[in-house]
Amino acid sequence: MKDMDETAQPFLPDDESLAMVDDAKSRATSPGQAGGMSRRSFLKCASLAIGAATVGGAVDALAIEPHWFKVTRHNIVVPNLPSKWDGVTIAQISDIHVGPNSTLAHAREIVDMCNDLRPDVIALTGDYVSKANAITQALVEVLRDLRAGVGKFAVLGNHDYWANATGVIASLRSAGIPLLKNSHRIVTRAGEPLCFAGVDDLFTGRSDAAQALAGVPRGTARILLCHNPDYAEELPAEPRVDLMLAGHTHGGQVVLPFIGPPVLPIKHRKYAAGLVTGPRCGVFVSRGLGMVGAPIRFNCRPELPLITMKSYQ
Ligand SMILES: [Fe+2]
Repeated sequence: MKDMDETAQPFLPDDESLAMVDDAKSRATSPGQAGGMSRRSFLKCASLAIGAATVGGAVDALAIEPHWFKVTRHNIVVPNLPSKWDGVTIAQISDIHVGPNSTLAHAREIVDMCNDLRPDVIALTGDYVSKANAITQALVEVLRDLRAGVGKFAVLGNHDYWANATGVIASLRSAGIPLLKNSHRIVTRAGEPLCFAGVDDLFTGRSDAAQALAGVPRGTARILLCHNPDYAEELPAEPRVDLMLAGHTHGGQVVLPFIGPPVLPIKHRKYAAGLVTGPRCGVFVSRGLGMVGAPIRFNCRPELPLITMKSYQ
């Protein structure tokens, strides 16, 4: 199940609904009654409404949202981006978590959805599996089908380490996806370079941006892949990073109205999801595509971001 809306249209009431509002106002009666309804009837209706909302919320969180993928589109200005890279797209696949909560069929659907977007670059920001036995040849074959015009790059997440880092690394290699573990690749487009770098996981590995970007020419723009967005707070001033892509948070999986996500696996809550201003660079955090813990999502649909890089011009 997928959906590609990102541009919300303002809701404008039509004449009929305005007429209904006027009609309802005209029926309002004394303070002891709610619109002609006794206090007892009102409380009964309110209880039923709360019950229905609770059941509806549970159905949504368990059965609808976890599988209701959303393609989100973002134009992001990347400092130092060469003009030849202006308009180039990056699809970000994060936190698939193949395992008890996300099936291989889910992964297949994600790969097909990504390929339909025809991205130039695919950035995979970790947590491919939740359990060691989810690392299978079938997963390799699904990942191998990812198509990108310019390149595909991956980093590891904490769950990959907890499951079996050696197995995940072997799977990525078999699928033909370069792993950026405190390392980088420079890609040239019409003679203009762009650096894609990646760091090891913050929880379970050793994140080292200095090592990842060692030797990159100063004028070359840099995109850093990092599973855990908290690392944005630890980035050194040099070497410079121009944009960081992260996942890990799942957006909280459950986002309560007016409150936000009750649970986030990060220190700095500002990195829950979306484009955030970090101390050194912009940080885009994907809500990810899978789940951990309870197999639920509420008010936090799984997302596949398609980022269009923009230069200043
Ligand atoms: Fe995750």
